[in-house]
Parts: sequence; structure tokens; C-alpha cells
Amino acid sequence: MPTRSAFSSGVFLKLRRRIRFFSPYKNSIFVLFVLGFLSSLFFLAGPYLSRLYIDTSFLKRDLPQFIRLSIVGIVLFLFSTLSGTAEDIIKNRTLIKIKLGLAHTFIRKLYAHDLAYLQSKSVGETIYRISNVETVARFIGEEIPRVLVDSCRLCIILGITLFMDFRLTIALVFLSPLFLIRGLYLRKKTQPIFSEIWKSNARLTKRLQESLSKMQIIKALRLELFQRHAYIRLLIENIRLTIKGFRWFIINSLSTTFLAKAVYGLISLFGGWFIIKGELTLGRYTAVMLYVAQAGTLLSSLSHRFEYFVQQGVTLDKFFEVIDSRPRIVDAPGAVRLGPFKKEIVSCDVAFGYEPGKQVFSRLSVSFPAGKWVGIVGPSGCGKTTLVNLILRLYEPQAGTITIDGLEVRQAKLDSLRERIAAACQEPLLFDFSIRENICLGLMHVSEGELEEVISIIQAGEFIRQLPDGPDTAIGENAHCLSQGYKQRLALARAVIRKPDILILDEATSSIDSATETKILQALKTKRSGQTTIVISHRLSTIKNADAIYFFNPRGEIETGPHEGLLAKSPDYKGFFQDQL
Ligand SMILES: Nc1ncnc2c1ncn2[C@@H]1O[C@H](COP(=O)(O)OP(=O)(O)OP(=O)(O)O)[C@@H](O)[C@H]1O
Ligand SMILES: [Mg+2]
Repeated sequence: MPTRSAFSSGVFLKLRRRIRFFSPYKNSIFVLFVLGFLSSLFFLAGPYLSRLYIDTSFLKRDLPQFIRLSIVGIVLFLFSTLSGTAEDIIKNRTLIKIKLGLAHTFIRKLYAHDLAYLQSKSVGETIYRISNVETVARFIGEEIPRVLVDSCRLCIILGITLFMDFRLTIALVFLSPLFLIRGLYLRKKTQPIFSEIWKSNARLTKRLQESLSKMQIIKALRLELFQRHAYIRLLIENIRLTIKGFRWFIINSLSTTFLAKAVYGLISLFGGWFIIKGELTLGRYTAVMLYVAQAGTLLSSLSHRFEYFVQQGVTLDKFFEVIDSRPRIVDAPGAVRLGPFKKEIVSCDVAFGYEPGKQVFSRLSVSFPAGKWVGIVGPSGCGKTTLVNLILRLYEPQAGTITIDGLEVRQAKLDSLRERIAAACQEPLLFDFSIRENICLGLMHVSEGELEEVISIIQAGEFIRQLPDGPDTAIGENAHCLSQGYKQRLALARAVIRKPDILILDEATSSIDSATETKILQALKTKRSGQTTIVISHRLSTIKNADAIYFFNPRGEIETGPHEGLLAKSPDYKGFFQDQL
């Protein structure tokens, strides 16, 4: 159980973090505070004017004083209205600026993270976090200036009432902390509920996002009922939590109204007593009571805002979780650009596991020569894709090194590393764009000739010509308009068009029929002659003609050689391809 000091230091750290976060927006907050304050001047001066009207004009029947006071009132009213309009316009612009800034910071941070971090968060939850940008912007651009204005108004009201009648002010000052005590108690009670509500909202978004993206399998396996029930269960849980939160909202609302009215009632009784004793004029009494009513409204609104702050504090903390976390895979200090690939990729004593205690490699040492057509084979789960991930530095080895032409990948600029290598994987991962956009993704200048060349390498010329808009035909979400084999061909074209020094095909042609696959590989070999291509496959026909094959045998060792050589020297290799020979 956390101790009280740990709790308070946690609260302090959170507070410090929030202040640090708000500091770039301090100018905007200040401008909005000033305008908000100016626009409330009329309300602040109103009761004092009433007192002057009653004591110096009405009771004395003084018409010139009445006109003077009315002119002051009209000027104040116009000034407040204009300030209010300016406040609205500037608030709107500021909110847009803050939202843009926050969204930019959040997205930049998100994309800077490594794959392991991103995979550890569910997509739905991340989407929910991004949607919180709006709330955080409102918090900064609307709520903070409003709280500052209200607090300032409260102090001024206390100052004026003190000037008019210190006894009633003292009573108000003594009674006000009741609002604070109530607020602190409610914070303690409601914070865990708001935290649960946030998590439940995130779970709902996650569930919906996951189901919608896997509709095909839901339909095929008739999982609609199961998914619907699962969603409704989460929704009911969410509603239950919201009702729990709402109960506290009602308690908050009732107790605030009760307190405000009780304070007002007590002070008006005191005031009445002083009038009867002849110690207070009717004008002063009216003014003080109007100010007390305003103070009551301000205290109620501040305590509602306090509840809102507790609720949105949870959202803020979740937001900070992303922008405070440090990306682990970034350019090392003094990292250099990786030059054209000339010699070899070497993995030296590499140890790696995705999860603690589950090693994929304990001491992997292997080297791949440049300029060759290299094949990698081995049983499922032996770590072929993992090795590619490590070469691309999508993950970092826990021990040992991976070097390209003698430069450790950790010391290479990430941009240059991923420029030199392009990978096409088994899962094609296409975007809801046109065929052309999917192939040329991220490249600025691709000529028609280059596009046609890769389309002919993937043997898709005829197919694309028959489409309604040729290469500009949209392929829909998850490329649902295409067969798996064509999806793989587009993903392959996307890697080839980048003209990488090292092209990696990780089961990238597994869904393509063997005859077409042979033609594609043949065209690729001609196109990339003298360049490095690493092909990972379970299909013998795909890797049989490689210059060198690296076979991960069942004992975790790597055997190397051309196909015929391996057949002759390795019974494991022969056994692995027994059915395909
Ligand atoms: N993101 C991940 N998180 C946790 N474990 C993972 C992750 N990716 C892979 N693994 C595990 O790491 C091991 C190696 O996986 P890897 O994908 O490299 O195998 P592979 O040789 O490519 O297999 P296949 O031939 O089936 O593609 C497997 O045990 C797998 O379960
Ligand atoms: Mg794999």
C-alpha cells in the first residue's frame, strides 16, 4: 500500500509535470485571463453601483447623481460586452493553435517510438488517447483561464465587501473553506472512478476497432453474436461506471447548492441583524448581499471545476504517458550515414528475446555476403523474421552486434539504414490508396517508366491494365479488392521500386502460384544482378537457386551452402525438404 508521503510526492510530481506542460501556453492563458477578467467587470461593479444608486441617489432623490451613475453603468456594460466578444474570438483561435500543437506533439512522439512500444499498446487505446487532444486543449485554453478569472473575481469581491462591511466579510471568509473541504473529499472519492471510466472508454474503442477491422473472420466463423455480446458487456460495464460517476456528480451538485444557499442565508441573517441595530445602511446591505450571491456562484463554479479537473487530470496523465515516454530506438550520438552496401552483414554473438526469459537467439553468429542472392530457411518460429527485424533495427539485440560493412547498425543513422534496406513481408500491409500510391508510397519522383518496370517484374501488367482506372484504381481498406497473391505482388513492387542495396523478401511470395513466382524471381534476378537479395521461404522452389542458403537446423545451428551442397552434407536439410524434393 502506498504511504502518505509517497502519495503526496506522486501528487507533487504530477502537479509539477502539469505546470511544465502548461508553460509554453502561459502567454495564451494570460491573454485569455485578462480578457475574461475585463469582460466580468460589469458584474463585479454592478452591486457596488446598486449601493451607490440606493444610498446616494434613490434615498436622496438626486437626479444628476442618477444620470452620472447610469452613464458609468452603460460604459462599463459596453466595455464588458466588447471584452467578452474579443475573449470569444481569441479563445477560438487559441484553442485551434493549442489543438494543432498538441496533436503535432502527440503524433510526432507516437511515430518516434519503436515497434516494441507501439505493439505493447492496443491500437484502439491509442486512438482513444489521440481523441483526447480536444479535451486537453479545452483544459488549457478554456478551463485554466476561467479558474484564474473566477479566483481573481472572488478575491476582488472579498476586498470590496471587506471595505463595505468587514464583519460580514469575515463570516464569508470563515464559511468559504467548507467548499474546499468538500472538494478535497470528493476528489479522493471520485478520482479512482474517473480513472476506471477512462480505461473502460479505451477498452470500448479498442474492442470496436478490433472487431471492425476483422469483420471478414467474424462473418466467416459466425462470431457476430459473440462479438455483439462482448461489446454490450463492455458497454454495460461502462454505463455502470458512468452511473457511479454520475452519483458523485449529483452529490457534488447538491452539496454545492446546499452550501452556497446556507452561506448566503447565514450572512443575510447577520446583515439583517446589523440593519435592525442601525449599524448597516440598506444600500450597503443590498450590495454586500449581491456580492455574497456572486461569491456563492463563483465558489460553486470553482468547486464544479475542481471536479472537472480531477476527471480531466486522468485524461492528462494518460496523454503524458505517451509524450513523456522516451523512444528507445533513436540515432545514437555521433551516428553516421550508412554508405552503399559493399561487403557483408555480420551478426556476432547476438542474443535477443521479445519477452524476458524467452530467448529467440542466445548467441547467433552469421554473415551474409554482398552482391549475392541469399536464401534463408528453417522451421517456423526459429527466428528468421526476427533476424530481419534486428537488421532493420526495429528491435535491438540484448547482447552482441549486427554490423553492415563493419558499421554497427546502432551507430548508423536510422534513416540511412532503412534507405539502404527494403523488406517485403508475408503480410502485405497495404493502404487504402490507389495501386500507384501503394507502390510509390513515400517516394517523391517516380517516372511512369519506373512504375511500369516494377509492374512488369511482379507480372501484373495485364491485370492492372484491365482495371477501370489502371494503376490509379483504389484498392480499398486492407486491399479487400485484391486477392492475397496480388496484395503480395504490390507489397513486393513497393520494396523493389525503392532500389534498395539490400532487398529482403520474407515469405513475400508465399501466396503467389509457383509458376508466376518463378517468373517474378527470374525478373528480379535480372533486374538486381550484382545486388544483394535475401529470400526467406519455406518453399524449396523459391530458394533452390540461391547463391548461398542459410539453413536454421532444429538444434539452432546454421548450416550454409548451395542447395546441392546442403542436400549432400546435411540430413536435417534433406529431411526439411523431403516432401518437396
Ligand atoms: N512481436 C513479438 N512478440 C513476442 N514474441 C514474438 C514476436 N514476434 C515473434 N515472436 C516469437 O519469436 C519467435 C521467433 O519468431 P519469428 O517470427 O522470427 O519466427 P520465423 O522463423 O520467422 O517463423 P515463420 O517461419 O513462421 O515466419 C517465435 O517463438 C515467436 O513466437
Ligand atoms: Mg517469419
